[in-house]
Amino acid sequence: MATNRTFTMIKPDATAAGHTGKIIDRIIGAGFTIKAMKWTQLSKEEAQAFYAVHAGRPFYRELVEYMSSAPIVAAILEKDNAVADFRDLIGATNPAEAAPGTIRADFAESIAANAVHGSDSDENALIEGKFHFSASDIA
Ligand code: CDP
Ligand code: MG
Repeated sequence: MATNRTFTMIKPDATAAGHTGKIIDRIIGAGFTIKAMKWTQLSKEEAQAFYAVHAGRPFYRELVEYMSSAPIVAAILEKDNAVADFRDLIGATNPAEAAPGTIRADFAESIAANAVHGSDSDENALIEGKFHFSASDIA
């Protein structure tokens, strides 16, 4: 059964380009409630750990460098069918293939610097949320 929470990060390209407010506005406008949020910067070690599932992929090293290169915004979001609906809101990994009107179509720079992260399953949403937040951070 689908749970009602997902996890997102506004990635370094988007925070550096000044898109943070516009992206948060899109997320709220799409019906998501913010349960926890913080502005932070990942260390290289944290980025390696967060993306450990991709270790060994050809893009992993570049992904870790990029994700630790500038601040991010991490957030836990709530909505019915949150994981799937958020993936629809952000669009395909490669912004060239992202549907018009999606966050990645409108704000991403490239397949690597693609503006936002969205969890791919309820299980990973929980793991990723716990990576950044403790229970007392959630309201
Ligand atoms: O983020 P998403 O779930 O859409 O894609 P992923 O396959 O889980 O890959 C994680 C992240 O790795 C992407 O969001 C990109 O930032 C990066 N990536 C990349 O740089 N080059 C690829 N060919 C695939 C992914
Ligand atoms: Mg993914």
